[in-house]
Amino acid sequence: MRNLIDIQQLSVQEIDELIEKANDIIAHPEQYREKCRYKKLATLFFEPSTRTRLSFEAAMYELGGQVLGFSEAQSSSAAKGESVADTVRVVSGYADIIAMRHPKEGAPLVASMHATVPVINAGDGGHLHPTQTLTDLLTIRREKGRLTDLTIGVCGDLKFGRTVHSLIAAMARYENVRFALISPEELKLPSYIKKEILQQKHIEYVQTTDLSAVMPQLDILYMTRVQRERFFNEEDYLRLKDSYILTPEKLQNAMADLSILHPLPRVNEISTAIDDDPRACYFRQARYGKYIRMALILKLLEVE
Ligand code: NCD
Repeated sequence: MRNLIDIQQLSVQEIDELIEKANDIIAHPEQYREKCRYKKLATLFFEPSTRTRLSFEAAMYELGGQVLGFSEAQSSSAAKGESVADTVRVVSGYADIIAMRHPKEGAPLVASMHATVPVINAGDGGHLHPTQTLTDLLTIRREKGRLTDLTIGVCGDLKFGRTVHSLIAAMARYENVRFALISPEELKLPSYIKKEILQQKHIEYVQTTDLSAVMPQLDILYMTRVQRERFFNEEDYLRLKDSYILTPEKLQNAMADLSILHPLPRVNEISTAIDDDPRACYFRQARYGKYIRMALILKLLEVE
């Protein structure tokens, strides 16, 4: 496997190996400091990012490698009308591996067909975000000690939230996992994901607009931001943006060992009053993103 475009390209065994590798990196970072010496990562980001781009860059630096790239389409030749295919063909001559984020669904897939080095999808429009999912899985494993036997609530913008799409595809492959899909009517999980993943694999799920009704059953609560940039009009965004705001009161009927995740950035959907609750995992989660990306870079570059 040379590219990572969709999390389903990785087998469960490969995911478990990546998690194991990330845990080893966390325990023994000094053993990895020279692994990617003289290797270069290109970060081609046509859309805003803080965690994904910086954690990819930090990951490559911590492996002893180097980084080049751009963080907005405006500062690349895309602004002159260059195609993704041409851009990656050229960048393949400058870097050993590419991480690409793009507002168009499928752009990293197209890139992978024209690049001669591995391409990683760092988020494509409202579609997929496999490396966030690897981050989420590492977080769940570290917080819960397992990836099986879990009731997972995903809450917020399930329509445009690419992190949720990849997370459901990945978690649906573990034993005895159930989902509560919590969203406003307009932002429900796309039906192709319900059909091709949940129904096809006979995964138990409920769909609801009411977070507090399902709260007591949840082992994991995965909150998401309403994806403003994917809306067709501002009015709908303003109406829907505060559909769910997690507050300490709303956690009163939650399990004592609930894990609260969020890919971040947070806008309004989690009150800062929750940040010091031991159940809030989202800042640890952001930190784990660097380690799992280190593990992924090693795998795709076939470094031992
Ligand atoms: C997410 C994304 O870009 O999809 N952010 C991230 O990578 N951590 C979530 C979001 O932007 O809401």
